[in-house]
Amino acid sequence: MHKIAVIPGDGTGPEVVREGLKVIEAAASKYGFRYETAHFDFGGDRYLRTGETLPDSAVEELRQFDAIYLGAIGHPDVKPGILEKGILLRLRFELDQYVNLRPVKLYPGVETPLKDKGPEHIDFVVVRENTEGLYTGSGGFFKKGTPDEIAVQESINTRKGVERCVRFAFEYARRRNKQKKVTLCGKTNVLTYAFDLWERVFHEVGEEYPDIERDYAHVDATVMWMVKNPEWFDVIVTDNMFGDIITDLGAIIQGGMGIAAGGNINPEGTSMFEPIGGSAPKYTGKNMINPLAAICAGAMMLDTLGEREAAEAIEKAVMTVCEKHIKSLAAGKMGYTTSEVGDLVCQYL
Ligand code: IPM
Ligand code: MN
Repeated sequence: MHKIAVIPGDGTGPEVVREGLKVIEAAASKYGFRYETAHFDFGGDRYLRTGETLPDSAVEELRQFDAIYLGAIGHPDVKPGILEKGILLRLRFELDQYVNLRPVKLYPGVETPLKDKGPEHIDFVVVRENTEGLYTGSGGFFKKGTPDEIAVQESINTRKGVERCVRFAFEYARRRNKQKKVTLCGKTNVLTYAFDLWERVFHEVGEEYPDIERDYAHVDATVMWMVKNPEWFDVIVTDNMFGDIITDLGAIIQGGMGIAAGGNINPEGTSMFEPIGGSAPKYTGKNMINPLAAICAGAMMLDTLGEREAAEAIEKAVMTVCEKHIKSLAAGKMGYTTSEVGDLVCQYL
């Protein structure tokens, strides 16, 4: 029995999560796995009502689940940063979800802004370190508000943190069994401490994977190649900040936020799955937003829970829906409502 915590969150989060759960339910009856869900109302509305982002008991409570299924966090009436730090980043850190796994895969029938590129060119995965780097909040102000003000924001890279992330990337490349290549995306020419560590660890760990090719690209070159030759990539491993930036580019070349899903993974603990796009407040309650990213996040969750067959079937169904039905992935331009898209995926399961 899989225990799944559901956090629908803000804006269109509840609408897309509803479709994701619909598809999971259909997959469960077809593939015969059992699960139970518990809903949590964390998000902007609760914060505005109670002043609380996550109650202290929440993290311990969520830790008891096998996985967390998250819609979206972000509310127009809440100052930017509060919900992101108080909910999303806090859960990533406290549940030690040290990998942010973001597949970049163009499905047949989906439009990419890249000229002359198709599904045969765009199929790679970014393994983003998810608990360290510039995201730790290390640093501070000195003489704040004066003309002599100094702001320091430090990138923290631990041997342990880098190693477990890099190892995950090699394991994942082996499991994918495609090009069997891992590209380290860094900036060894300028960030000569942080990426020196990354580079040493990359090669040390890589020695244990003689079947996997090792490749390196600076982050600035990486984004250039992602546009010019995305087919060169199989698995990209990188730090938290670079991973954040390059995966938005990844999302757009695979068709946009309507389809991009991600997993915050702790292989030994509770992982959390989310569509990468935000809460899209202007579409709230309109039944117009694209639920495919949330549905794909649900498939990633099932895969992590060990339901690989069901996960693959959902992905195949999504591909069929993209190829046969959906003209544009953009909200309101799909030719179908949010709930109709969920129904279509169930139909092809
Ligand atoms: C993401 C988001 C978050 C991040 C924000 C909302 C804190 O951009 O999941 O990529 O920077 O990690
Ligand atoms: Mn981001």
